[in-house]
Amino acid sequence: MSRKPIHLAAHFPGVNNTTVWTDPTAGSQIEFESFVHLARTAERGLFDFFFLAEGLRLREHRGQIYDLDVVGRPDTFTVLAGLAGVTDRIGLTGTINTTFNEPFEVARQFATLDHLSGGRAGWNIVTSSDAFTGANFRRGGFLTHADRYVRAEEFLRVAREFWGSWAPDAVVADVAAGVYVDPERIRSVEFSGSQFDVRGFATLPAGPRGQPVLLQAGDSDEGRSFGARHADALFTLHGSLEDGQRYYADVKSRAAAAGRDRDELKVFPAATFVLGDSEDEAQDKARHIRYQQVSGATAIAMLEQVWGRDLSSYDPGGPLPDFDPIVDSSITQGRVRHGDPIALSRKYRERAEAENLSIRELVIAVTSRQQFVGTPMHIADEIDRYIQADACDGFILVPHLTPHGLDEFVDRVVPLLQERGAFRTEYTGETLREHLGACH
Ligand SMILES: Cc1cc2nc3c(=O)[nH]c(=O)nc-3n(C[C@H](O)[C@H](O)[C@H](O)COP(=O)(O)O)c2cc1C
Repeated sequence: MSRKPIHLAAHFPGVNNTTVWTDPTAGSQIEFESFVHLARTAERGLFDFFFLAEGLRLREHRGQIYDLDVVGRPDTFTVLAGLAGVTDRIGLTGTINTTFNEPFEVARQFATLDHLSGGRAGWNIVTSSDAFTGANFRRGGFLTHADRYVRAEEFLRVAREFWGSWAPDAVVADVAAGVYVDPERIRSVEFSGSQFDVRGFATLPAGPRGQPVLLQAGDSDEGRSFGARHADALFTLHGSLEDGQRYYADVKSRAAAAGRDRDELKVFPAATFVLGDSEDEAQDKARHIRYQQVSGATAIAMLEQVWGRDLSSYDPGGPLPDFDPIVDSSITQGRVRHGDPIALSRKYRERAEAENLSIRELVIAVTSRQQFVGTPMHIADEIDRYIQADACDGFILVPHLTPHGLDEFVDRVVPLLQERGAFRTEYTGETLREHLGACH
């Protein structure tokens, strides 16, 4: 079997405690220069795309804005349009939900970005999970989980209708005659469904290569099927080797069942990394970063999310609470509570007891750790191994520092991937679709 090419993308550090902002080199989460630095670094590393997540409401904890994570997220389209002007080749992708937006508007925004960037736009389609976010909008929490994918399906159909409504030769630009479009070549979009009733015209043709690249993130059965039917690439948290292989096999077979070529759908797990000159140094650095990511206050807040109650009187250096959590608690808004809190709390207590861990040590042990830790050579080997073993097609790298977190990776790991012939040494295409499809 032929060797799979490696695909890489760069996640602008999101609103969570992966991003260390106590580090002396940490920069702004909001200033344009931070976005420019990360996007240009990823472009220097010949990555497929730059990626923005979306969070439309500040998280709350114990009734207040949660101040322990990095906060502040400028508008996606404005940032990506700005980046289109200061980059040449890298794909520019943004997460935009189908629950609180309108297809006409989103289709127009992505078509515009695709024109401004010369075919580099990508839309990460999400349905967004909660009514808490919805409270920012007129519609509020108006859809059930299943209906969110019904709406997403219709949303995409309508967006595609808009993108397809101008024939490639609709713009005639016959300046002598004072005619710029051929009305016969622009179709009206008419759609009537359970979610949308739309009649009208797109205000511009689709981008240089038709519709923008579609990404998707959503892990339920409906979410996976939706992504497998429509997306060019999936963003996932199934990043370990075995879990990744299971997910990869599942979504690729869903794509095949939908009549698609399995290779048309690329799988990108999120991945964090820590580089060192030796394995020991990298492990030490990784431990240090984990302690910065999980401060004592963060450890207590994370435990409160499981216990569903105020634990502020607890010492992060001391033992866990010896009572069960409140099951139906709304102590945290805007962050999903995973699984049964009682079972989880028992698991945590047993582990803390067995390994003699304090609250902070336990939270560090059970929350996500860096995926790739080691020398540049080790990390290059691991990335290649995961891809060749069909755990994924590439990674969306999530640096822990804004905006310099990718510099070392591009300087030290990318050349090693290139040396082994696994990664491109120059962009061979102009558009994001070409980057994703290209062999190298
Ligand atoms: C890897 C991953 C990343 C996601 N990123 C975002 C995001 O940036 N913004 C957002 O509103 N939702 C995001 N979501 C949530 C999805 O929008 C979706 O609402 C949620 O996962 C519920 O859908 P599901 O039940 O199919 O998973 C993400 C989901 C996954 C799996």
